[in-house]
Amino acid sequence: MSPGGAPRVLPGDDPAAIAEAAALLRTGRLVAFPTETVYGLGANALDAAAVARVFAAKERPSFDPLIVHLADASDLAAHAEADDAADPRVARLADRFWPGPLTLVLRRRPHIPGIVTAGLPTVGLRVPDHPVARALIRAAGVPVAAPSANRFGRVSPTRAAHVARGLGDRVDVVLDGGPCRVGVESTVVLLAEGRALLLRPGGLPAEAIEAEIGPLGSVAEDDPDAASLAPGRAGAHYAPGVVVEIVDPFDPPTSLALRARPGERLGLLAASAAGAAAALRTGGPFAVVQVLSEDGDPVAVAARLFDALHDLEAAGLDRILAQPVAPVGLGRAVMDRLGRAALAARAGWAGKVADPAAGRARQ
Ligand code: TXA
Ligand code: MG
Repeated sequence: MSPGGAPRVLPGDDPAAIAEAAALLRTGRLVAFPTETVYGLGANALDAAAVARVFAAKERPSFDPLIVHLADASDLAAHAEADDAADPRVARLADRFWPGPLTLVLRRRPHIPGIVTAGLPTVGLRVPDHPVARALIRAAGVPVAAPSANRFGRVSPTRAAHVARGLGDRVDVVLDGGPCRVGVESTVVLLAEGRALLLRPGGLPAEAIEAEIGPLGSVAEDDPDAASLAPGRAGAHYAPGVVVEIVDPFDPPTSLALRARPGERLGLLAASAAGAAAALRTGGPFAVVQVLSEDGDPVAVAARLFDALHDLEAAGLDRILAQPVAPVGLGRAVMDRLGRAALAARAGWAGKVADPAAGRARQ
């Protein structure tokens, strides 16, 4: 159910719609727009009141910073602190992967309002690889702060209809650019002060980044700086409104979990056709089956993952069984999102919007 009424949905390929949406952004309103990863809920990043509306619309806790979207890589130096902007690794990654599903976290210049960065000295910057997103940012003439256009803790939207259903008229306009090509959010890498940390696996494989700039470190759960380095890692993310369990249909000892319990409506999220066949042989009955790809290719699996979770969520299921993929390449982002959905379910968060206080306690 959408909160409130339905938002206005306009065609993203219509220049008049872009002009109208850009004007709304300039006056402090919210516009949802397609990117290659997921749909974003955009506001003028330089307008603290507009950004506050984003947090309110999403019910997002204020400790979780937003990514600032730029039309061109050449805009980075205007927003990142000079030493970080001059880091040769930044130029290398921007040249190679922008526009694209990569967010660089660098020390920020002081004109970026504190609400955007949750008070952190750093800012996440990215140039999205979608013609509608770039046309919108260019026409607005301002950097656009945009989290994924879902309520906090819920599955990210990969279609305009997901945004409309999740946010309703909390967003002024949704630009429809069709389904998102990549399907999982950008990879977030911190390069501030000469460091190199992977903060979130995402649509650009970590291996591709490491091939350019060398090994990336990670932030340990028990790192005392974890909350400030990676504030978005709250465990309650990506919860569909139903319990998710990761079960390997090719692993006989787990096959018991593949059987529906009496009266249970069970859903299957299979990564491959062979996985679906194996699950159907030993488990079920399944009320709904979603097969994400023919052969389990993680790029194809990622592209369909959130779309399938939205469909399964709408099917009134008691439990969803998800087939794991190898955690390499885009498979790392897929397993990260599935792991979070399963964690949310184990902690009893399925069906509820994640409790920000619970998220904070988990960091
Ligand atoms: O693909 C994407 O990244 C999408 C599209 C719309 O661009 N956006 C997105 O935003 O996924 P969001 O807000 O749902 O996730 C942003 C992530 C959060 O985990 C946040 O904590 C992290 O990026 N982040 C943003 N700025 C940061 C900063 N200064 N330091 C550390 N993490 C940061
Ligand atoms: Mg998000």
